[in-house]
Amino acid sequence: MDYESTRKLLESVHQEHLLKYYDELSEQSKEKLLKQINNVDFSVLKLVENHQTATKKGKLEPLGAVTLDQIKEKETEFRTTGVNAIKNTKVGAVLLAGGQGTRLGLDKPKGMLNVGVNKTLYLFEQLINNIMDVVNETGTYIPLYIMTSDKNNEDTVNFFEEQNYFGYDKDYIKFFVQEMAPSCDYNGKLYMEAKDTLSLSPNGNGGWFSSLIKAGLIKDINERGVEWLNVFSVDNVLQRIADPVFVGATINAGCVCGSKVVRKAAPEERVGVLCLEDGKPSIVEYYEMTDEIINSRNENGELLYNFGVTLNYLFKVDKLIDIMNKNMPLHIVEKKIPYINENGELVKPESPNGYKFETLVLDMIHLMDNCLSFEIDRKKEFAPIKNRTGVDSLDSARELMKYNNIEF
Ligand code: UTP
Repeated sequence: MDYESTRKLLESVHQEHLLKYYDELSEQSKEKLLKQINNVDFSVLKLVENHQTATKKGKLEPLGAVTLDQIKEKETEFRTTGVNAIKNTKVGAVLLAGGQGTRLGLDKPKGMLNVGVNKTLYLFEQLINNIMDVVNETGTYIPLYIMTSDKNNEDTVNFFEEQNYFGYDKDYIKFFVQEMAPSCDYNGKLYMEAKDTLSLSPNGNGGWFSSLIKAGLIKDINERGVEWLNVFSVDNVLQRIADPVFVGATINAGCVCGSKVVRKAAPEERVGVLCLEDGKPSIVEYYEMTDEIINSRNENGELLYNFGVTLNYLFKVDKLIDIMNKNMPLHIVEKKIPYINENGELVKPESPNGYKFETLVLDMIHLMDNCLSFEIDRKKEFAPIKNRTGVDSLDSARELMKYNNIEF
């Protein structure tokens, strides 16, 4: 890890610019930079050359969902199974809060966003309120594992502490930190965010289980007897967490995982659709489907590929352990990446200026033998806050909060 071997390594991958400021640095900074560089997996840069090539999908077939009507009919049955599992602490929850929320342009963790108007109501707080509904129904705290990243861990942990965990029993909350990946410009040159620091960003939400294991939390999971993990995103203010009906439906169906899905608003809606690929459950993005597939309908005129995912999944823990060492596809994503320019000044771009590399939790579904597709009413359960205005924004989420009589 000395200067000379690092320089040679960088030469071989055409990234010599990373040592441009080396001579100006203190001994401590020099050491830090060399360490960072030597930890980078440069093979991800191959994706930059190949990224125009669309990923090849297998044979796609529709996968029907348990619909709202069917759920209503069997609600008591599903609820009984779910409540039992929760009372026996078989169900834990994982909050994915390691993202950077670049579309919203926040400089703090997304969960610290105040979604209130007449009163303060933080996103994290509303998620805790939502999970408390289940705690109150079952008389049981749900173990909650919160994934952060190096960028926001300190702020997140301090915020929960300051806010007294929003009334949740803190013995049931554990934090863990996800891994980082490099980011680069459109020519594949890695960005730096300071003279002694590479621009590293969270490596996507797909590594959540391996990060949880690395943090040693499997011990907590096993000690508590948790058999199912409900993984969910930070930004859906209507998120139902450890929903007993969903849990019960998945268990009763004999499935190893489940996904909450919404009926598509229109064939061309830009959501990942849960279907079968080569006979296994899979989430296929709208741009990976042909027009013919997108528009195909059954005899009742309903879309065959009709159910979009909402980033709320239930996984059986032993199956997660089985697939842990399987390779997940790496995605290349265009993002706004802060960097230092030729003069060593920090630039915060207004529009995307390069790529990050991510694995995605949705790709885990294809590694599972089966998946229960469980329909939810989007007006009641799906209000993600991704953008500043328009679709999936704070404005649209507030409208839905009003619709659901949430005080804010
Ligand atoms: P998004 O894909 O919406 O990404 O994350 P993001 O980082 O929050 O926002 P943009 O794309 O930069 O605007 C979906 C969920 O996955 C989590 C997010 O916190 C969110 O709950 N996530 C995303 C992680 O936990 N880690 C990551 O590396 C990326």
